[in-house]
Amino acid sequence: MAKFLGFGIKIYYLAFVTNIYKDTDENILKAAQILNNGGLVGMPTETVYGLAGDATNPEAVARIFATKKRPNFNPLISHVTGYEMASQYGVFSKSAQKIALKLWPHAISFVVPRTKDCGVCDLACAGLESIAIRAPKHEVAQRLIREFGKPIAAPSANISGSISPTSAEDVRIELQDNIKMIIDGGACNIGLESTVIAVFEDEITLLRKGFFSKEDIEEIIGHKIQMADKNDDNKPRSPGMMLRHYSPNAKIRIADECDEDEIFLSFGAVPFEVKGRVFSLSQTGDYLEAASNLYGMMRKADHLKPKNIVIAPMENKGLKNKGLLGALNDRIMRAAGLK
Ligand code: TXA
Ligand code: MG
Repeated sequence: MAKFLGFGIKIYYLAFVTNIYKDTDENILKAAQILNNGGLVGMPTETVYGLAGDATNPEAVARIFATKKRPNFNPLISHVTGYEMASQYGVFSKSAQKIALKLWPHAISFVVPRTKDCGVCDLACAGLESIAIRAPKHEVAQRLIREFGKPIAAPSANISGSISPTSAEDVRIELQDNIKMIIDGGACNIGLESTVIAVFEDEITLLRKGFFSKEDIEEIIGHKIQMADKNDDNKPRSPGMMLRHYSPNAKIRIADECDEDEIFLSFGAVPFEVKGRVFSLSQTGDYLEAASNLYGMMRKADHLKPKNIVIAPMENKGLKNKGLLGALNDRIMRAAGLK
């Protein structure tokens, strides 16, 4: 009886202390108050969930770095509602403005020079002269930023080096009770981090691949843009892209066959040579569906402690949202330690 009682209390306790909250106006207000007091909240966006804090408050930003165990030299993205708010913090050249007005709010971040009296703290920008800014499209993120009224610093809400969370539950698993409030905005419909471009005057460099491809940006501005170059110190780079990233504990291999003690993440039809358990990233060959499933399925597979996670090669197999192939391959290569 005592054992049963104890069990009951534990279930009640777990149900009671969950830090996941519905996206009601009351909870958005509560989240904005937490941010105002220097605290952190889990914020949904259409790419991945962010660990949000007041970008103008160095203590809050230090708390983000500590909670994520993130190296301090890796700067954060400041989230705003749109172009008008962004231009208070970053200097947008004509080209930057053109791209932002065309694509925002959405899954793209801009690295631009900081404005003179940019209130975003040095720690959020890792002491650089530039700042990364994004206006997310997700309705809950928009409401939270509007309510808060200041830029929100938000890296992906995972421990540094592990997989970015794409649901409120994944944030809770990653950060446990190190975070008081996670607002549930449903599953992220893109599932990979935003595209990052650096724009200094006319010079545009793609720092991180994402939902918007190099070609999408070239089409808007009508000329070619550069790719970040690891070996060229004169080109802007994204410090975050040099770190080991997006990794589960299990080893990842990329192949079209799989043994019994491995888990296979398939794309399109499952090849005959696959013997292990299968999770389907997309049966219909849709790269966007695969992107939105990738991190969650890597997490689920990792949890089952397989010998390896095997991911199907994706080139030339996709039928829909082909612009996302580059970003998907980038994340898979990183998870596999090949980049
Ligand atoms: O989709 C996303 O972008 C998510 C959601 C939450 O918005 N956020 C995200 O943040 O992925 P984070 O901190 O994990 O990645 C930010 C990237 C890092 O690679 C960082 O190095 C780069 O942006 N970055 C930030 N500021 C920069 C700067 N001033 N110059 C160059 N790269 C910068
Ligand atoms: Mg991240």
